[in-house]
Amino acid sequence: MNILFIGDIVGKPGRHAAAGLLPALQEKYGITYTIANGENAAGGYGITPDIARALLNMGVDLITTGNHVWEHKDIIPYMSGSDTVLRPLNISPLAPGAGVAVLRKTGEQPLAVINLIGRVFMAPAECPFHTALQALAALQQDHPDVVHILVDFHAEATSEKQALGWFLDGRITALFGTHTHVQTSDESILQQGTAYMTDAGMTGVIDGILGMDREQIIQRFTTSVQKHADVAKGKEELQGVVVRTDDAGKAVSVLRIKEQL
Ligand SMILES: [Fe+2]
Ligand SMILES: [Fe+2]
Repeated sequence: MNILFIGDIVGKPGRHAAAGLLPALQEKYGITYTIANGENAAGGYGITPDIARALLNMGVDLITTGNHVWEHKDIIPYMSGSDTVLRPLNISPLAPGAGVAVLRKTGEQPLAVINLIGRVFMAPAECPFHTALQALAALQQDHPDVVHILVDFHAEATSEKQALGWFLDGRITALFGTHTHVQTSDESILQQGTAYMTDAGMTGVIDGILGMDREQIIQRFTTSVQKHADVAKGKEELQGVVVRTDDAGKAVSVLRIKEQL
């Protein structure tokens, strides 16, 4: 089957690009499951229940997040009552919401998604390597029919992303990185059949800085005044990756996606 993974959707332009480009992409690549990172979907910071519903309505099956997950507090009760928005599993075992979900569609093989967060140049978190092993053991026990497993590793350091990719090679279908908002060109299939890409990129305005207003971000660096920036305006792009798999859950091809609206 074919799985589409979309890099961090940033603000209204990101949602607009996703809504405009998703139907054709899903059709072109015969997509069974669409996963999107939505940690910046609400004005660049966090996600709200209304925006989560809008993403799900436009054809996203599951939303992953990252360090900005709790920016809007009303997502917490929403997440507790639904398994369509994940938070990183290794933030803390006591955090609200879930970090793993199993998607099932009639006539299709199921897909498990695990959302993890890095610890290098990031806020403190549990070990993503150990947490991943625990999650895989739990999946094997609770959902023995699941062979397709996708990991969104929301992390800053390339080395940490590559290390987790190789650590999980052969145990999962794909590991795609998020958080840097800059798409990398290292999409590949590792030796034991796991698809890997350091960063899936960003879905939003490409002429901003990580999807946010250029001038405001430059000002932040030049003045050291830290405040939330506005979402950029301009040319919109959807960035992500499509992985094609066999029935055993191994990746057979991986394709970088970068489409302008
Ligand atoms: Fe992000
Ligand atoms: Fe992030």
